[in-house]
Amino acid sequence: MSELANFELSNFAEIFFVAMQITTDQGKVCVRTPCKVNPFLEVLSRRPDGYHDLDTLMVAVDLYDELEFSECEGSNWHLSVHAKSAWIQQQIGYNGDRLGDVHQNLVWKALGLLSRELGIHKGLCVKLQKSIPVQAGLGGGSSDAAAALVAAQWMWTGHYDHELACRLASQLGSDINFFLEGFRGGAWVAACLGRGEKVQPIKAHTNLNWLLVCPAIGCNTGTVFRSLELGADAPRSLLNENTSLDGDLGKSVELERVLFNRLFNAAIVAYPDLGVFYDRLRNIAPQLQFTMSGSGSTFFTICEREIAIRVSETIEQQLNCFTYVGNCWKTRSIAEQIDDLTLQSAHKNNRS
Ligand code: C5P
Repeated sequence: MSELANFELSNFAEIFFVAMQITTDQGKVCVRTPCKVNPFLEVLSRRPDGYHDLDTLMVAVDLYDELEFSECEGSNWHLSVHAKSAWIQQQIGYNGDRLGDVHQNLVWKALGLLSRELGIHKGLCVKLQKSIPVQAGLGGGSSDAAAALVAAQWMWTGHYDHELACRLASQLGSDINFFLEGFRGGAWVAACLGRGEKVQPIKAHTNLNWLLVCPAIGCNTGTVFRSLELGADAPRSLLNENTSLDGDLGKSVELERVLFNRLFNAAIVAYPDLGVFYDRLRNIAPQLQFTMSGSGSTFFTICEREIAIRVSETIEQQLNCFTYVGNCWKTRSIAEQIDDLTLQSAHKNNRS
């Protein structure tokens, strides 16, 4: 049987979480990992290393990708990328069952970094089922990379070192750390500082419905940041201006009141078609306030579910886009769930 872990993964075939995000099945580890939106994004300054310091709020929304990790013979890795929706298939250049260059995928890069760090190189098959649009400001690639850092580490070593995952996450990108953290007792909301990798959980009312509108325009994050002109307005501050103190959780924020994205103008300078799309969106639903997520191209709004469903149908009919109506992602972090699997494995091993 497997030499992947210090214990038998098959012991856990029957483990099933109610909010099933991480499960094991016959030696496979399956992870569902969400997207994020940024209800608030301010750019504070340009840094000497070429990055920008941010003050941003991220909320996980329940549109998710699925990853299945299984051991394979030898020491090679295999990553296949799939999509059920025709929209995503078109976006990722779907050709049968593989994305063009898997080596550019953040999951592959995460495996490489982790393998070098651990000094372990074992065969691994990863099947990635994409439902989160790419180059859309929704953090899909980052979310997948976070899942890889957790699941592969657990499979290769038999335990999970959160500090290690966080350190590697910040080397790989700016948004990945958010997906490694969860929030006590519910949804996943955090203020993110530095490049975005310094994650501070924050309390917010999260029984909200989100309408995501993703145009057929991919935004490259670096290109959008390069179009940004800083200095015209004084920076806004999320934590100082919009938060109140709330018990032991520290800060609390009302998401509907903070909606702002400093990168919006930069994105429509870099991608003029995005500006045209936004104007058409506003004409279709003038009663709703749309905000761009991350460096684009997704626009989102918070509204009643019935309104979101009705408006999304009209938007899809009139604009070339993908829409999603969903809720906040209410679960514990990937890391906490892996901790549970590890604890239960130890418990079972002790009993047998
Ligand atoms: O961190 P990530 O790889 O997603 O960033 C992609 C690009 O976006 C960076 O190379 C950088 O040009 C820009 N960026 C930035 N400041 C940030 C995050 C990203 O300038 N905080």
